[in-house]
Amino acid sequence: MATFTLPKNSTIQQGKSYKAEPGAKNVKSFRIYRFDPDSGENPRTDTFEIDLDKCGPMVLDAIIKIKNEVDSTLTFRRSCREGICGSCSMNIDGLNTLACLKPIEDVKGDVKISPLPHLPVVKDLVPDLSQLYAQLRSIEPWLKSDTPPPPDAERRQSKEERAKLDGMWECILCFCCSTACPSYWWNGDRYLGPAVLLQAYRWIADSRDEATGARLDDLQDPFRLYRCHTIMNCARTCPKGLNPAAAIGKIKQMLVERET
Ligand code: SF4
Ligand code: SF4
Ligand code: FES
Repeated sequence: MATFTLPKNSTIQQGKSYKAEPGAKNVKSFRIYRFDPDSGENPRTDTFEIDLDKCGPMVLDAIIKIKNEVDSTLTFRRSCREGICGSCSMNIDGLNTLACLKPIEDVKGDVKISPLPHLPVVKDLVPDLSQLYAQLRSIEPWLKSDTPPPPDAERRQSKEERAKLDGMWECILCFCCSTACPSYWWNGDRYLGPAVLLQAYRWIADSRDEATGARLDDLQDPFRLYRCHTIMNCARTCPKGLNPAAAIGKIKQMLVERET
């Protein structure tokens, strides 16, 4: 299937409007970005009125209701509905977040929904994450050790060593942060971005991993790491409350310390 990046100067046209059922008393409008590259048509915004008295509390509940009851062609990703899988990330009311964790009542006025920004769009709310996954693969996010594990036992960590992974193991790879990062918008082909750098530091900080030197060598690059300018959009938008900028800062600090 073809993917398509919206030209910066293109306008998004007003699309179809769907009214709530007659008699609905608690109505909210959802304005949703629609785009199908196979149709040859421009992107548009469709408006769906939903009776909140017959809908679950989260934005994802409304999107599922629309797909089930109004327009089955509406396309989006989701799996767990519990903020665990990271697949329902999208831009809601101007902020990248998880639709399953975003209460409808937190949005004043119409709920505006679009795909994660600055990525090619596969269809509707589904962005193409290929570049992000390739970058994740490039940092080799798995344990590397030449030392065999103890016989009949796991590789142990002290409580203090294990605590160093807090704030990183919770990452669900939703990529809300990377797609909110201005440096990633402009240099995403070469800058790894906050989500992947958080993962890189997760393995650097792991006491069981023996590839720290090679991992740092790989990041010592003017683009892969050093495009972070501490703008902090990443920490502001992360739906899990994580701080990728802090992890990036720790990688930079380790690189400085090994030079001195
Ligand atoms: S702190 Fe760094 S990674 Fe986070 S948004 Fe800013 S430039 Fe991007
Ligand atoms: S750091 Fe937060 S926003 Fe970024 S990918 Fe992980 S969970 Fe998502
Ligand atoms: S559906 Fe899994 S995080 Fe939202």
